[in-house]
Amino acid sequence: MEVKKILLTEDEMPRQWYNIAADMPTPLQPPLHPGTGQPIGPEDLAPIFPMNLIEQEVSTERWIDIPEPVLEVLSIWRPAPLVRAYALEKALDTPAKIYYKNESYSPPGSHKPNTAVAQAYFNKIAGTKRITTETGAGQWGSALSFAGAMFGIEIVVWMVKISYQQKPYRRLMMNTWGATCYASPSTQTEAGRKILEKDPDTPGSLGIAISEAVEAAVSDENSKYALGSVLNHVMTHQTIIGLEAQKQFEKVGDYPDIVIGCAGGGSNFAGLSFPFARDKIFGKDIKIIAVEPTSCPTMTRGPFAYDFGDTVQMTPLLPMHTLGHDFIPAPIHAGGLRYHGMAPMVSQLILDGIIEPRAVHQLETFEAGVTFARTEGIIAAPETNHAIAAVIQEAKKAKEEGKEKVILFNMSGHGLVDMAAYDAYFSGKLHDYELPEEEIERALRAIEPLPKPKVAAK
Ligand SMILES: Cc1ncc(COP(=O)(O)O)c(C=O)c1O
Repeated sequence: MEVKKILLTEDEMPRQWYNIAADMPTPLQPPLHPGTGQPIGPEDLAPIFPMNLIEQEVSTERWIDIPEPVLEVLSIWRPAPLVRAYALEKALDTPAKIYYKNESYSPPGSHKPNTAVAQAYFNKIAGTKRITTETGAGQWGSALSFAGAMFGIEIVVWMVKISYQQKPYRRLMMNTWGATCYASPSTQTEAGRKILEKDPDTPGSLGIAISEAVEAAVSDENSKYALGSVLNHVMTHQTIIGLEAQKQFEKVGDYPDIVIGCAGGGSNFAGLSFPFARDKIFGKDIKIIAVEPTSCPTMTRGPFAYDFGDTVQMTPLLPMHTLGHDFIPAPIHAGGLRYHGMAPMVSQLILDGIIEPRAVHQLETFEAGVTFARTEGIIAAPETNHAIAAVIQEAKKAKEEGKEKVILFNMSGHGLVDMAAYDAYFSGKLHDYELPEEEIERALRAIEPLPKPKVAAK
């Protein structure tokens, strides 16, 4: 029998995270203060994050030690297997070899706890009593709730209203791990009340939920806020995925030609791809593809600009690809990909030609997810299906070209709590959304008054 799962032992788990800030061809531009437009220092972030995480956020050290208590919790499901998708290859009749990192083994079912556990730990040792956060699909909220339970910290989550309604089981998972979860916009915060007044039927957005969670954190001295994606330290915590994958490829004497991940704020994509992006920066020939929905085409159609991370303009201005902080995407079922911005690290690496963005339509992603479920057996999250759709595109291209490409993708989460989305797909209720050009123009208007990063808009 051929080897299907390439496994590592706990002893072989990486002991350090990789910080790509040390190797980026163009250094990151600084975040700016939302009021003054000037670069912010660590002290400006102190009301929101504990100093140990702020240090990681601004660090340019290449390697950052993973503390032992974090490794202990991660070992509940890590190292995660690297799996060869023989059955998918066969169904596609492709000469390509397809591998995936299976991040769905974590208790909440996705890659998100890789950083949730780290953030809960660093907050714990900094004395934080309560962490507030937002969640889109519910994966991040449940991941942080799980991590809070592991380290004895109270967690409060604002969940985008449309997902709160579509995914009651995610909320119940959060409750089971001891967290509180509100539908956002909520009446709990000033930001939420203002938005509800203007539009009581809004489906909500990650931008709004972030505003609520940040407001709740800064108005209580024992609380801090945690973000599940976008920020540098989150990308760094996720690199354990790609670092494990590199060790696993070494074991079987293989190496990917193409690395693929879906990207909402960029964290699972960065986690898998940054260690490979490092090899690319130092000369390796690898194609690295970040996949997003056509309905929220941040990377493929959004300009690179300074923009707020949230709707109510409370967060620092970040240099990133953006559709504008007031953008409310169509209510597609991949809730975790409905975000107006993109990680500054991912955005800069796109500008530098290290990463290639790609947008796929919703129906193609579900078709891909169903193919994956009927071959490899795993029902992937709707977000993950975006990566699978791009994998299938690349595998078909390899067939046309008669090339034995090695494709690696991130199976960022399972879809077992997302079956309502599959139901909507099977009953023909899902549609493709192409964002009209007027929306892009509107996005440009929303960011027009803000300071400009050094690189011209695309
Ligand atoms: C399973 C899964 N994959 C991907 C994402 C997108 O987030 P990110 O781009 O930070 O990986 C999410 C977000 O909720 C998710 O739940």
